[in-house]
Amino acid sequence: MSPLAIGLERRIAAEGPITIAAFMAEALMHPIHGYYVKSDPFGVNGDFTTAPEICQIFGELIGLWCADIWRQMGEPEEIAIVEFGPGRGTLMTDALRAAAVLPAFKKAVSVHLVEASPFLRSRQKQALAAFSPTWHETVASLPDVPMLLIANEFFDALPIHQFVLTPDGWRERMVTSVDGMFALVLSPQPTPRSRLIDSGVKAHAKVGDIAEVCPVGISIMEAISSKIADHGGAALVVDYGYSEPQARVTLQSVCSHKAHNFLEAPGTADITAHVDFATLGRAAVRAVGTGVKCWGPISQADFLMRLGLAERAARLMANATKRQVKDIEAACHRLIEAEEMGTLFKAFAISAGSTIVPPAFV
Ligand SMILES: C[S@@+](CC[C@H](N)C(=O)[O-])C[C@H]1O[C@@H](n2cnc3c(N)ncnc32)[C@H](O)[C@@H]1O
Repeated sequence: MSPLAIGLERRIAAEGPITIAAFMAEALMHPIHGYYVKSDPFGVNGDFTTAPEICQIFGELIGLWCADIWRQMGEPEEIAIVEFGPGRGTLMTDALRAAAVLPAFKKAVSVHLVEASPFLRSRQKQALAAFSPTWHETVASLPDVPMLLIANEFFDALPIHQFVLTPDGWRERMVTSVDGMFALVLSPQPTPRSRLIDSGVKAHAKVGDIAEVCPVGISIMEAISSKIADHGGAALVVDYGYSEPQARVTLQSVCSHKAHNFLEAPGTADITAHVDFATLGRAAVRAVGTGVKCWGPISQADFLMRLGLAERAARLMANATKRQVKDIEAACHRLIEAEEMGTLFKAFAISAGSTIVPPAFV
């Protein structure tokens, strides 16, 4: 058993069964043994890959998306570009390179990264040395200036709770330990988090249905919304998820690009859940009322094609070798085709006030 598994087992022995969210938080972000804390999970030799790691065009188009909104805002002299969960810093590097076509934008920009993993912070430091980024633990310490926030595959990594509808009502799925193995049990009584289950899901649920909620994601979105409403700007969330809340299990674990049982060997595999975009949108509006406007979600394919993915790919291919052309075509296919990332992945935005129209959303 790994030190992380032993620690979790001791905690369960002392406290009783723990929530899936507590298990997931330890598995991903334990200060020494957490999955994101101790290694680089990305790429062909890692456990999974993400859109910015697949193709530079993804980050470039998001950089131009930011520059367009900055122009719509009247070109403020100071603007914070903020990324949540920047991984290797690839998206931000590509975005800033593309947006540098507007020298005044480049001059106005300060770069801020919200990253919990010290290991990935060091990767980001190398990738973004030229831009002297500032790291933050939470939204609270971001500067009080207009900002453009980006979160690609960030919200899916936040801990979720799961509930099962039993004949006695909703009961939370908890993690216990039996003979050195982790297993799921149901809470004997309702837990307070069950109040967060979407009312539409509750209204249509049958016995045996499972609902998921992500309270951390809700509170981060509320905080982002308040910042945007107070200081101006916009936020873009790209992730896999669904447009309307549903009763289904989306919690999944991946190791070496293959499905993995999330209860086995915590800390060695990624654990994620699909993002509930409608709930994020409601959280944004609940926090500030008409201070922000929500856009989408739209499919990643629509988002990227409307921003000019095909044109940018054609320009890159015009100066590429045959091998590079094949690679660019394969990467674009992966980003936009329905059987790949094109439909499951979605883009959702919020913007301050009523004048900004985020590119690709109309
Ligand atoms: C799946 S990776 C995505 C990385 C990058 N955005 C990309 O698309 O390649 C999730 C990122 O979110 C970070 N992360 C996860 N939970 C976090 C939290 N609670 N606070 C800050 N960063 C977090 C991870 O360390 C990692 O950088």
